[in-house]
Amino acid sequence: MARKNHEAPQSGDNTTLAHCGHDPHSFHGFVNPPVVHASTVLFPDAKTTVEGFQKYTYGTHGTPTTDAATAAFTMLENAAGTLLYPSGLASITMPWLAFLRPGDHLLIVDSVYDPARRFADKVLSAMGIEVEYYDPAIGAEIETRFKPNTRLLHTESPGSNTFEIQDIRMLSDIAHARGALVSMDNTWATPLYFKPLDFGVDLSLGAATKYPSGHSDILMGTASANERCYEQLLDHYTWTGMCAAPDDSYQILRGLRTMGVRLAQHQKSALAIASWLEGQPGVSRVLHPGLPSFPGHDLWKRDFKGASGLFSIVLSAKEGDFRKRQHAFLDALELFGIGYSWGGYESLAVPVNLSGRTVSKAPSDGPLIRLQIGLEDVEDLMADLEKGLAAARAA
Ligand SMILES: Cc1ncc(COP(=O)(O)O)c(C=O)c1O
Repeated sequence: MARKNHEAPQSGDNTTLAHCGHDPHSFHGFVNPPVVHASTVLFPDAKTTVEGFQKYTYGTHGTPTTDAATAAFTMLENAAGTLLYPSGLASITMPWLAFLRPGDHLLIVDSVYDPARRFADKVLSAMGIEVEYYDPAIGAEIETRFKPNTRLLHTESPGSNTFEIQDIRMLSDIAHARGALVSMDNTWATPLYFKPLDFGVDLSLGAATKYPSGHSDILMGTASANERCYEQLLDHYTWTGMCAAPDDSYQILRGLRTMGVRLAQHQKSALAIASWLEGQPGVSRVLHPGLPSFPGHDLWKRDFKGASGLFSIVLSAKEGDFRKRQHAFLDALELFGIGYSWGGYESLAVPVNLSGRTVSKAPSDGPLIRLQIGLEDVEDLMADLEKGLAAARAA
């Protein structure tokens, strides 16, 4: 009899990652699922098109390949179901569209991923949705921001670029008591290091572009929903024609198989580099939730199972010198590429500009640089960062 370890509850996340999503015995014993390229799906007869049940009906509504990927995320997230979107940004904007209506009030954390802010300001506001930003450190005071028309509280923890940690359980409880839903961008931790639905979140959103892909070559987003929200999210997905490409879905499932070991290495290297940077001349602060010096460290330690490879540093600089030092640092790096995105095997550095924020402003002690620590040897990365720091000090 075929073993069904792809659907049995697994003892640990790495076991789940190795077996989730596909039953080899459902496809001739092949360990990996087939990549099904599909628009048309044939029906056995006319009656089945109107009243019969057929699992697959059209390419936009899912294939065995997309099902394998969504089943894997659904297991990892302890969700009722997961949908795949063509980018991480779409996995935020589309669920917002699915649950918000004109006249609704949306609360968004001020440290939100910036393109999501742009969507809220440009598209949602034009649709008559009231958008309000709140301080990531607001805590229980969030209660005072709710209005009778507050429909959704959006969280992101750690926050983009500055890594503030939010008390997701407390925020979810307050939002639910006020009749609002909670969404969370969980890209940084992935469901391996934080499971939003276990902390009361209704919609767990993630850019699979980052760690699930792991190789800087795929764009994809996931939204995993609880029982309360899954059906509405699925209806909206179907109505909008949103779907994920078969090859990309396959690659994301492939990436998941090794995500646990990759993340463990990203975590180890990033923590080693972050604590080393704390002692380097020219570094004013290191913003990494795993460092005891970081203000959100205790909360991170209480709620998260680990840290990924992305954090920021604030260089020491006098006002007026910020840009000069920031650019000197970046231009001196040889191993670190200057480029957006993260979660891949290669290290990256980008200048951070927080001018779009309305509540929690940019650091005043120096320019901000975000580092993505890849899978290279830590000693080589430190030597490269030393060159950057020397150039910044000389600038
Ligand atoms: C926190 C966060 N969420 C979402 C996204 C969006 O992902 P994508 O690039 O796939 O649109 C990013 C991308 O950098 C991100 O940093």
